[in-house]
Amino acid sequence: MKISKYETIGAAAIKKLIADFYQEIKTDEVLRPMYKDDLEAAEERLYLFMVQYLGGPDLYNQKRGLPKLKMRHMVFPVDDKAIEHWLNCMKTALDKSEIDEVNRSFLWHYFKQTAVFLKNR
Ligand code: HEM
Repeated sequence: MKISKYETIGAAAIKKLIADFYQEIKTDEVLRPMYKDDLEAAEERLYLFMVQYLGGPDLYNQKRGLPKLKMRHMVFPVDDKAIEHWLNCMKTALDKSEIDEVNRSFLWHYFKQTAVFLKNR
């Protein structure tokens, strides 16, 4: 059976990546105002989404339904500036991560592509 990226990278490393990302969001002057007060809940949603995307348990779908990311982001102004800030936060988190180079590069390309896809302003 083919081993999923979720298994290769590991739940702990994904969790740490998303936690480090939200540490950056916390102090980002462009992005912080877009997120509601409960950053922990938002962190959990992105974590579960990434677990599922990488081939792990589909808890995101069970809790939130289909991702429909484009639709869910329509209420937030995802313009070039927001994309740049989001990706910078993720870059910082990836640089701190101990995920191997091949998978870090895979994740980085996925995030870049998705961020551009979500542009709505
Ligand atoms: C490009 C800039 C982006 C901005 C400004 C942005 C902003 C936001 C905001 C404000 C939320 C609400 C937080 C919450 O309460 O859950 C959110 C949710 C979410 N975002 Fe983004 N986001 C961006 C890119 C991305 C990317 C690249 C991904 C995926 C790789 C992503 C995945 C998600 C997910 C899974 C949720 C939770 C959806 C839900 O279940 O309600 N976002 N985003």
